[in-house]
Amino acid sequence: MIKALLVYFSGTGITRHYATLIQKEMEKRGYSCDMLNLEELTDLSVLWQKKPVALTYTIRAEVKRPLSKYPWPYQDTKTAIENCTENPLLSYLEQAWKKYDLIGFGSPVYSFRPAPVMIRFLLDLPVFKKTVRVFSFATHDGAQGDFEKFMKNILTMKGFNFVGHVDQAFVYSASVVIRKHFDHRQAGRLLVKKSRQARNKIDIFLDYITSLYSGIPNWYRGASIFNLLFGIPYRLIYSYGIDFLLNHFLFGFGIHKNKCIQCMTCVKQCPQGLIELDEEGYPIRLYHCMYCLRCLNWCPTDALYFSQITDEKARFPGPEVLIESAMQDELAYRLKQK
Ligand SMILES: Cc1cc2nc3c(=O)[nH]c(=O)nc-3n(C[C@H](O)[C@H](O)[C@H](O)COP(=O)(O)O)c2cc1C
Ligand code: SF4
Ligand code: SF4
Repeated sequence: MIKALLVYFSGTGITRHYATLIQKEMEKRGYSCDMLNLEELTDLSVLWQKKPVALTYTIRAEVKRPLSKYPWPYQDTKTAIENCTENPLLSYLEQAWKKYDLIGFGSPVYSFRPAPVMIRFLLDLPVFKKTVRVFSFATHDGAQGDFEKFMKNILTMKGFNFVGHVDQAFVYSASVVIRKHFDHRQAGRLLVKKSRQARNKIDIFLDYITSLYSGIPNWYRGASIFNLLFGIPYRLIYSYGIDFLLNHFLFGFGIHKNKCIQCMTCVKQCPQGLIELDEEGYPIRLYHCMYCLRCLNWCPTDALYFSQITDEKARFPGPEVLIESAMQDELAYRLKQK
């Protein structure tokens, strides 16, 4: 029996949903599969605050419109990789992960790369002496850019045997915060449809993975040529579009004090531990972050916004709520038919 582990980070729940689909498919094949949400393993804010890795959009935003008077020691990914050293807090993992034959590392795609939290975590790992087979998995909106290359390089640097990559575009969870309305039922139906596609793709991937253990490996083409080609226009739109949007309209951290009930949800949910309370007990964020959107989406009273274009706009409720809405829809339809 293949003993697998899936390690993931998920900003708004889509990658967590994808990890559970991979887990189900693995279990159907008789693998055992443990799951590890990075946020349960380690205090991400401690990991982050010590040596933050920041993607280009964050660095640019901090340079253009600093949120804080205090300098934050940003490291771009290149510098972070060059200066990477083992974090003693994570050294025990070399022993703890010895029991696994296969480890998958998953993250959303942020600006064509793994989320900064995942990059930081991987760079902080010890170098593994026992060569374990690993793969990467990603969720995105259509343009995964250098994600796979990045994961392959870092994981190989850490002594792992990188064997492949699997990914899926689901619903456009990131763009919800600039839309006036977001139809839960429609998005739920799309999520169910995409999940079916994802399972088919995972099935092909696992055929290949299983073959690695049987001695006659299948041929596996990795990211499809179609996807790569299809990614080019997306990539152009994203590189100019996202950067423009983020740097001109989105960056910031605003709060409607009259709406805030001081529940601390945003403080607790921020994986970078960047949200603090001011003297009056209202949340503030001192620096630019990776913009995972969790604080905005999870605030119960919609008191937070990043800029005018995210203020009073729709919020992403998480995959569970969407699937529930789609199921209610289906149920109502069936009842009508009766
Ligand atoms: C800050 C940010 C940057 C993103 N950059 C990209 C990108 O470059 N390409 C892409 O296809 N999707 C991009 N996305 C979309 C996410 O990858 C996608 O919505 C993902 O499924 C979210 O997963 P999660 O719910 O696990 O966080 C971005 C999302 C955010 C919040
Ligand atoms: S989650 Fe919303 S209501 Fe709760 S403290 Fe943060 S801003 Fe205020
Ligand atoms: S401040 Fe909000 S968007 Fe930024 S990392 Fe924290 S939860 Fe994510």
